[in-house]
Amino acid sequence: MLVLGIESSCDETGVALYDTERGLLAHQLHTQMAMHAEYGGVVPELASRDHIRRLVPLTQSCLEQAGVEYSDLDAVAFTQGPGLGGALLAGSSYANALAFALNIPVIPIHHLEGHLLSPLLSEEKPEFPFVALLVSGGHSQFMAVRCIGDYTLLGESVDDAAGEAFDKTAKLLGLPYPGGAKLSQLAKDGAENAFDFPRPMLHSPDIQMSFSGLKTAVLTAVQKVREQHGGIVPEQTRNDICREFQDAVVDVLVAKAHKALLDTGFRTLVVAGGVGANWKLREALGRLKIQTAPIKGQPKPLPEKVKVYFPPMEYCTDNGAMIAFAGAMRLTNAREAGSFNVKPRWLLTDIVVA
Ligand code: KG4
Ligand code: ZN
Repeated sequence: MLVLGIESSCDETGVALYDTERGLLAHQLHTQMAMHAEYGGVVPELASRDHIRRLVPLTQSCLEQAGVEYSDLDAVAFTQGPGLGGALLAGSSYANALAFALNIPVIPIHHLEGHLLSPLLSEEKPEFPFVALLVSGGHSQFMAVRCIGDYTLLGESVDDAAGEAFDKTAKLLGLPYPGGAKLSQLAKDGAENAFDFPRPMLHSPDIQMSFSGLKTAVLTAVQKVREQHGGIVPEQTRNDICREFQDAVVDVLVAKAHKALLDTGFRTLVVAGGVGANWKLREALGRLKIQTAPIKGQPKPLPEKVKVYFPPMEYCTDNGAMIAFAGAMRLTNAREAGSFNVKPRWLLTDIVVA
């Protein structure tokens, strides 16, 4: 069965073809980053218009790349939410029109389910059950995943998402939008402990996180540095700030990942979403071991190994491959074309599997 996947929830148009027997056959992506950079953030109206422009040519490139025809398609999967209303409607109406014309079903997909299942696109696939860490521009969540469609929220950020904190911090350091990846690159040249930023909720007894205070700490530090250096932030100091900021976010995510694994008893962790591309997070989680509590009268238990899976780099950020794949996994729930409605706000735990 051949599924066309359409992603248009924010500022990336992604189109891909996934075959249930042969795997991923093609994927194409257009990022609107340069267009929005001028405005320092995503302009929803521009995003919607650009998705409309890109969807047909990207689909045609995918079909050519895979050497298949429109008539070979068995279903069209699209991101139904969460995301920007207009951007979602561009993808939804295109997917529905195409499915209607070809007389094939459409499969509405939750964007975060796409991210969550994206590590299954790797050669080495995680086995269920696992803890999923979803870290994107809009979400920082730990989910218990028992099988496809069975997701329980373990904890999340009470304010900014990790990616949002990366982007806002990058912005106040004068880096172009969306600065998360750039900030992480500069952190490589930063000195360790040159600054001392808080690790919010690091020791809270739950799996909740908070990143907005960290961003404020960076703002205060930047203001101080500017006062001391005639209004500028010297390059090395900027890199030091990037380093400490990244270390603080990673420390919190690693500590909460430990807690999520400990609480569930699972020993597999799957990391998905844009921040999953972060090199420091990958390094730190790669070293993660679970230390269970000692039982009275018995020797201290040895730390347990964790299997950690990341999606291939190109499927970390928004893409059509994860939507085509999630669609293929849900073929049995396919509907007739006509489910035009989108869900700009939609909890992953509210997915109904028929
Ligand atoms: O999953 P994604 O592409 O889109 C959303 O659904 O939000 O994630 C985008 C987020 C942005 O906030 C971006 O700055 C962040 O992922 N990001 C990174 C890195 N690459 C992308 N954050 C930290 N380090 C990176 N290397
Ligand atoms: Zn995303």
